[in-house]
Amino acid sequence: MEEKRTSGRLNVLLLGSGGRESAMAWKVACSPHLEHLFIAPGNGGTEEYGTNVPDLNIKDFDAVAHFIAQHGIDLLLVGPEDPLVEGIADYFEERKELFPFLLVVGPNAAGARLEGSKDFSKAFMTRYKIPTARYQSFGADQKREALAFLETLQPPYVLKADGLAAGKGVLIVPSLEEAANAFSDLAEGTWGSKGQRIVIEEFLQGIECSVFVATDGKDYKILPVAKDYKRVGDGDTGPNTGGMGSVSPVPFANEEFMQKVAQRIIEPTLKGLQKEGIFYKGFIFLGLMNVEGNPYVIEYNCRMGDPETEVVMLRIVSDFLLLLKAVAEDSLGNYVLEEDPRAAASIMLVSRGYPGSYIKGYEMTLPEPTFNTQLFHAGTTFMDGKLVTSGGRVLAVSSYGEHLEEALNRSYTVAQQVLFEGKNYRHDIGKDLLNDN
Ligand code: AMP
Ligand code: GLY
Repeated sequence: MEEKRTSGRLNVLLLGSGGRESAMAWKVACSPHLEHLFIAPGNGGTEEYGTNVPDLNIKDFDAVAHFIAQHGIDLLLVGPEDPLVEGIADYFEERKELFPFLLVVGPNAAGARLEGSKDFSKAFMTRYKIPTARYQSFGADQKREALAFLETLQPPYVLKADGLAAGKGVLIVPSLEEAANAFSDLAEGTWGSKGQRIVIEEFLQGIECSVFVATDGKDYKILPVAKDYKRVGDGDTGPNTGGMGSVSPVPFANEEFMQKVAQRIIEPTLKGLQKEGIFYKGFIFLGLMNVEGNPYVIEYNCRMGDPETEVVMLRIVSDFLLLLKAVAEDSLGNYVLEEDPRAAASIMLVSRGYPGSYIKGYEMTLPEPTFNTQLFHAGTTFMDGKLVTSGGRVLAVSSYGEHLEEALNRSYTVAQQVLFEGKNYRHDIGKDLLNDN
């Protein structure tokens, strides 16, 4: 059994390896309450903030438990959704007698279903009257019924795989004929899994933003609001990616809009979770559409967003490790979240070809660190002592500015100075927001 530590400082294990985890690692490492940070597996940049554990398989919960016991970990922070959907929080809850003091930040599998099953999350929103696109869900063998529902909707048509599909499970098509084909593709498991349920919903016209809620299950804090840019090409063209850049704050997410978000979405969501007996401790990511000043939920995620976290972390002044501790200890009501009034902008440098196939292993040259910019590594690693590319999304160049334009200019200047073969990035991140800033 683990022993309770007495120094008061925390040993933290952060699971994940992307830009999101780099940004969280940076912020956790700023805390005077940190004893030591481990990042599993981590990437070529996270060693700057702690110790990488490259060989720990984060989906092997026994291995994670062994590491926690061996290294006296006090707090486990789960970055990506997969281990949450697969029940990592339940795993430690069921072993409470072995890990009585372990603090876990991340929902249990029941809570993670908000992201893990679109069928569940849409039905949940309907039960608690949370604004979202009108929808119906169908079995893979219900094509005829699905077509009849599609005929009641206006184009374009939105079809979604029920389960996790690595960001590729949403198809938006202009005609009924393509919608019928999209249904067949989803039913066959071209995206997601074969035979899965399929959600069909109304298309919402508006502008998106990402709202992150930290909750201990009863109290909540809204983190700085961000917007990400999902398409690979300038002018929102080309295929969807994990995200090509992000900015914070978002001018249209003003006080009036955020009050609606709190009253119409966050509070009923938390009440709904409580009513269903789901003890949710972690982050709820609301993907929102602003439809003429009214927020609608496009999706829930059970974790922080990437690359939104890269700007959200820059804009949190207060101690993020204490926020994590408060989430896990049910004391969020006493935590004071302080935001940085400055703007932040993150430009994702990607490998040519991403989100399709791309070549890895190109050597990288980074500029000297500057005061206003953080280089959050994503797909990087060390090979023979040299920093090389190892993924599609390589590096999130993330800067502060007195206003959004300054933050963007700083990130774009540094983006040019980062050198690697096949470097690609969007040149218009945040531009849509500059006029109303
Ligand atoms: P998701 O994976 O659910 O975030 O969907 C990916 C993207 O598809 C979202 O970020 C939106 O841009 C778009 N999308 C999803 N559902 C809708 C909808 N009902 N109306 C308009 N756009 C949508
Ligand atoms: N940036 C969107 C996501 O993390 O899902």
